Amino acid sequence: MKSKQPLTVLITGATGAIGGALAKAYAAPGVTLILQGRNRDKLTALSSACIAAGALTYTHEMDVRDIAAQKEWILQVDEQTPLDLVIANAGMNINIGSDGAGESWEEVEMLLNTNLRSTMALVHAVLPGMRQRGKGQIALMSSLAAYFGLPVTPSYCASKAALKSYGEALRGWLAPEGIKVNVIMPGYVESAMCQNMPGPKPFLLTPERAAQIIQRGLEKNRPRISFPFPLNLGTWLLSVSHPAVAQRILSWMNYRA
Ligand SMILES: NC(=O)c1ccc[n+]([C@@H]2O[C@H](COP(=O)([O-])OP(=O)(O)OC[C@H]3O[C@@H](n4cnc5c(N)ncnc54)[C@H](OP(=O)(O)O)[C@@H]3O)[C@@H](O)[C@H]2O)c1
Repeated sequence: MKSKQPLTVLITGATGAIGGALAKAYAAPGVTLILQGRNRDKLTALSSACIAAGALTYTHEMDVRDIAAQKEWILQVDEQTPLDLVIANAGMNINIGSDGAGESWEEVEMLLNTNLRSTMALVHAVLPGMRQRGKGQIALMSSLAAYFGLPVTPSYCASKAALKSYGEALRGWLAPEGIKVNVIMPGYVESAMCQNMPGPKPFLLTPERAAQIIQRGLEKNRPRISFPFPLNLGTWLLSVSHPAVAQRILSWMNYRA
């Protein structure tokens, strides 16, 4: 294990592709992993793999939309095992449908509660402990979809753009107190969520490769861990182009119902 790696890491959505790969990337002797998900079998299997790599693990089955339960859990965990790194990774996606019918309000609420509200609540729960200790690191899982709204996934893009803004603001506020905040913006990574997303998926990465890039970015305390390079550049250019031009490019690339 490299010396600069955190010793206590909490990952939400650890039962998913990216969360699971991150857990395995951090698993090493001397490291304590706190792994959250809803799927018990996947949590158990992941925990076994991390233990085999020498880590100590605690698993927790919870729906992150239950804000009160999440806060109670975090306070308990942080008291027993002060957290060095918290990766707010749990998330979901919805889309306008293949016929362009649109997102239902129930789905939109579920998505905002999962991607945004629960993540902000998680930050609120971990911050008092980190501020008291004058150290800690919080990584928010945004997406390259935060740069410019894709017509097929309006609410998902909105939630990830909000997380990007939130993380950038937190970083500026908390850096003088010794707390690091990073925004993670992956492109396409093989996962159930990615598979269900409409539209092309250029430069698709494996979760293992994504985890490697994220771990290195967090170690270097990069403000924005955005990848892969060609898609990062392309989506950033969309965000600084005239919106009419950006829309035309997206339509030409088949990002439509
Ligand atoms: N894959 C990509 O291309 C891509 C690109 C950019 C950003 N991201 C972001 O990366 C993160 C991980 O996504 P992934 O690709 O690894 O997808 P995934 O394999 O579908 O994993 C999603 C994870 O989120 C958890 N989750 C979802 N809703 C939850 C809830 N209400 N309560 C608790 N846990 C919940 C799932 O837990 P259970 O399965 O146990 O329910 C699962 O662990 C997401 O925030 C996603 O937006 C992904």
